Amino acid sequence: MDYKSLISEKLKGNTDIYLVGMFTDKKLSHLNKSVSNATLTLIKKCLDSNNFTGDIGDNRTFDDIENKFQIIVFGLGAKDKFGPINLNQSLNLIIKKIQKTNTKLISLNIDNIISKNLSISPEFLVSSIENGLYKYSYKKDKATMHIKRCNFVSKLIIPSKILNQSILVGKAISNGIKLAKDLGNTPPNICTPTYLSNEAVKLKKINKLIKVTVLDEAKMKSLGMGSLLSVSQGSKEPAKLVSIEYMPLKNKAPIVLVGKGITFDTGGISLKPPGNMDEMKFDMSGAGSVIGTMRACAEMNVKTNVVGIIACAENMPGSQATRPGDVVTSMSGITIEILNTDAEGRLVLCDALTYARKFKPKYMVDMATLTGAVLAGLGKYPSGLFSNSDKLAELIKKSADKTGDRVWQLPLYDDYFEELKTNFADIQNIGGRYGGAITAAAFLAKFTEGIDWAHLDIAGTAWEVGDNKGSTGRPVSLLIDFILSNQ
Ligand code: BES
Ligand code: MN
Ligand code: ZN
Repeated sequence: MDYKSLISEKLKGNTDIYLVGMFTDKKLSHLNKSVSNATLTLIKKCLDSNNFTGDIGDNRTFDDIENKFQIIVFGLGAKDKFGPINLNQSLNLIIKKIQKTNTKLISLNIDNIISKNLSISPEFLVSSIENGLYKYSYKKDKATMHIKRCNFVSKLIIPSKILNQSILVGKAISNGIKLAKDLGNTPPNICTPTYLSNEAVKLKKINKLIKVTVLDEAKMKSLGMGSLLSVSQGSKEPAKLVSIEYMPLKNKAPIVLVGKGITFDTGGISLKPPGNMDEMKFDMSGAGSVIGTMRACAEMNVKTNVVGIIACAENMPGSQATRPGDVVTSMSGITIEILNTDAEGRLVLCDALTYARKFKPKYMVDMATLTGAVLAGLGKYPSGLFSNSDKLAELIKKSADKTGDRVWQLPLYDDYFEELKTNFADIQNIGGRYGGAITAAAFLAKFTEGIDWAHLDIAGTAWEVGDNKGSTGRPVSLLIDFILSNQ
């Protein structure tokens, strides 16, 4: 889709639909000059008489007969609560509405949306609109995209240099999010570890600086990754450990992103109950977010060294599968007693985190749909954040607030580590009955000593359930903002 900047007076003949956001204060002063006074008066009267509230989701359509376009006034919610989350929600709803029609040209009044103190930038707006257009389909009837262009309508024209840069960045961000969503939504008989590694290799086409290394099981064995390999041994799909290097700068420590890539999690011998097990195709969402973020970095040529590592395996039961009670040796040398084969995410991640040391990270951040416990504790709105570095945790929180891709930090007190003790190995792979998201994070922390590291448990945020079941692409927007803010 194309974007253009238009001043209010130039709307006529350039649009089919004119979108005008309105807060619950019901002010329409930003409409000035884009429609006639008579139309403005009419709209105001109608909105008053038909109980338009300005709440998110509320909208009214008017015909502007002299200008030959439709005006849709849509709710932005309360002005004092406005920010990236409300903007995403309201735009998403209105775009889904328009997408059902044959509309080709839309225009959006941005005078009450973009402002410095609201932290909404043109690139955020572009990525928000593009995200709203997302549709995944393995169905026979492919959805066709009708909307060809969106004009940003404002009192002052956006200088073309700024606008073009915003479009480039905004589209790179939404392309990254889209890729993460597509990978998450792809069925698990297709999206296998090998498929994910091939998707990583494809990133080389986006930017020549991208270098991809795919480790197969033989190579992992020679590196001593006994923990990761214990997860894939029950499946006929071979595990893959993939590193995606994007290093535009010489001699600078990279930000290293590590993603859990379980392409299907049956639980293994500790088999999961059947209800909603299909959702365990999303158990590779951490890896999907790494691939999506790397794609965005490559597309917008960020000036930061970034390395993405994905640990891909399928967790299956079978005669070859790990048993509860098995002890394996991780690449770090730490021995692990596997008491529950369904706690497999930490088993693949610990070897990926150890492998990541070779890149000498400035910061290391892992993303994983690691525990149901994080959902029980925090619900589906924020991702769980854990860190051994207060500084890194603050940086991540900042990016979360800026993008609306929220996080909530949980503690890593020494006490939790006690729960990982066992008589039969250095550590066991599960903690006690309570605080499961934290004991899982504590397990990972054992493998990241000496590195500024953070862990995002995205089990509650990576996909939606119910009628809108599908990948959310989270936390790609947070990660991109984190990288852009720490160039
Ligand atoms: N992939 C799951 C976590 C999960 C469960 C995410 C439900 C989203 C919804 C993970 O591999 C897992 O099974 N974790 C176990 C850990 C337990 C055995 C200690 C869990 O959360 O039950
Ligand atoms: Mn599991
Ligand atoms: Zn899992």
